[in-house]
Amino acid sequence: MAINFQKVNFAYYAPKKNQQANFVLKDIDLNIEERDEFIAIVGHTGSGKSTLVQLMNALLFATNGKVNILGTLISKKSNIKLKPIRKKVGLVFQFPEYQLFEETVIKDIIFGPKNFGMTSQEALTRAKEVAKMVGLDEDILEKSPFAISGGQMRKVAISGILASNPDILILDEPTVGLDPFGKKELLSLLKKINEEEHKTIIIITHDMEVVSDVARRVIVMDDARIVYDGDKKELFTREDILMEHNLDYPELMKLMIEIKEKLNIDIDIHQYSIKDAYSELYRVLGESHE
Ligand SMILES: Nc1ncnc2c1ncn2[C@@H]1O[C@H](COP(=O)(O)OP(=O)(O)OP(=O)(O)O)[C@@H](O)[C@H]1O
Ligand SMILES: [Mg+2]
Repeated sequence: MAINFQKVNFAYYAPKKNQQANFVLKDIDLNIEERDEFIAIVGHTGSGKSTLVQLMNALLFATNGKVNILGTLISKKSNIKLKPIRKKVGLVFQFPEYQLFEETVIKDIIFGPKNFGMTSQEALTRAKEVAKMVGLDEDILEKSPFAISGGQMRKVAISGILASNPDILILDEPTVGLDPFGKKELLSLLKKINEEEHKTIIIITHDMEVVSDVARRVIVMDDARIVYDGDKKELFTREDILMEHNLDYPELMKLMIEIKEKLNIDIDIHQYSIKDAYSELYRVLGESHE
């Protein structure tokens, strides 16, 4: 297992005398493979999603319990080298402006790969490649990262992490602030990285369309705990879980449910693309509704 959590609790502050710790992660057990997973983490605001992923790349440390990342048991002890772990598990923060700090966009993108050992020339070549991949215009590269739009900042932060070529890629609400085209472009890029390079991708999102489009496994958090961890399709059969934790069906599934009920036909409502939904409807209705 690449990422393994056993009975992990986490509090941001040590408790005051005679007070209980305010755990924002409770009893977290988790196993994530190094390759081929595409996981969406969903759940209420404040449920602990961003905190959880910061433990996955050793930015935060468990208050108790065990966190093992790529074979290293993580702790604050100084003999544990955290840099290789942060190279292998790349994290794009929820608020990209926290991740940017250099004078120009290009310097920001090459910071990570240089820090992890690439030469300046290699880093520059790689940075230009990834900037193009995420759809950043070349004329932005020499601007200050603080003089560009929120969506562009996000793309710069994503480029910086991609340029370091991590084994596992974690993105905290990466589609927020992107226009529809930018969102589609980013999701296709992530799918490509997952399918062709077999990298595990973990994405935090509130958007069930994103879950529907890219994820295979879903982790649902509520009030500091993981309340569901499993197959996406299975989750969408569990109306009880969706209701209890205020999650919605993706729009296409809502439409399929409506059609199934109104026409009283036996269709598989679990469709995640218009093409597949059309095929399923055609399979059942095609002949009779010519
Ligand atoms: N730096 C911090 N210091 C103290 N408490 C924090 C800090 N960051 C988050 N918290 C608290 O930890 C809990 C979990 O926050 P977290 O940011 O992990 O939630 P989240 O699920 O990512 O929420 P959102 O969907 O709004 O991004 C919240 O109660 C929050 O107030
Ligand atoms: Mg968050």
